[in-house]
Amino acid sequence: MRSVLRRRGGVLVAPSILSADFAAMGEECRHVLGEAGADLLHLDVMDGHFVPNLTMGPDLCRCLRRALPEACLDVHLMVEDPGAFVEPFAKAGADHVTFHIERVAGREAAALAGRVRGLGMTAGIAVNPPTPIEPVLEVVGEFDMVLVMSVNPGFSGQAFIPGVLEKCRRVRPMLRPDQRLEIDGGVNPSTVDGVLASGVDVVVAASAVFGVGRGERAGAVRRLRGEQ
Ligand code: DX5
Ligand code: ZN
Repeated sequence: MRSVLRRRGGVLVAPSILSADFAAMGEECRHVLGEAGADLLHLDVMDGHFVPNLTMGPDLCRCLRRALPEACLDVHLMVEDPGAFVEPFAKAGADHVTFHIERVAGREAAALAGRVRGLGMTAGIAVNPPTPIEPVLEVVGEFDMVLVMSVNPGFSGQAFIPGVLEKCRRVRPMLRPDQRLEIDGGVNPSTVDGVLASGVDVVVAASAVFGVGRGERAGAVRRLRGEQ
């Protein structure tokens, strides 16, 4: 099964390619999914408006799909108008698309999740650190995954915000066995234990994986999965 997010049980590690060497992207991704043993790739899409940075778009996703036909591609849309990018990323071979509750909420969020799933992908809803969890809980049944942000999005390498773990503890009991809880930002070997204890089962990490030497990445992935 290409989309490991549809698989039940176990902790999945999702390196964010934001901290990879962009000039060697294919090789970096092949290494992290192969030798380093990560489960999926997390693509941080930023538009310079919803967050103060510019990163990548559907073209990179298409190239990764072509280079790594079996890879599960988890697209995190940090953009003003996520609805405009759902079809382009589906065509580019994404397996999963997450958009933010700060941009689309309520009935509109449910409808957009339906569009994502209608295109054969799974759907996620993300929530930034200052945003309360309640609007997510209202629509949680419509999604395959909830993404709790543990930094204010925009850049990798920021410090983990421990207060967001309370949101994870609130969401976890509301999820069905086929739904997942993802966290993103500042997760590393020193913060991961609290993260896993709060019920998270998909761990995103950019600097803790791509920011260390290739020889250390397998150990980092195991540690982020809660092993050792
Ligand atoms: C937020 C992005 C994250 C971020 C993670 O800006 O959505 O994926 O790059 O970076 P680290 O793991 O280095 O905090
Ligand atoms: Zn992300």
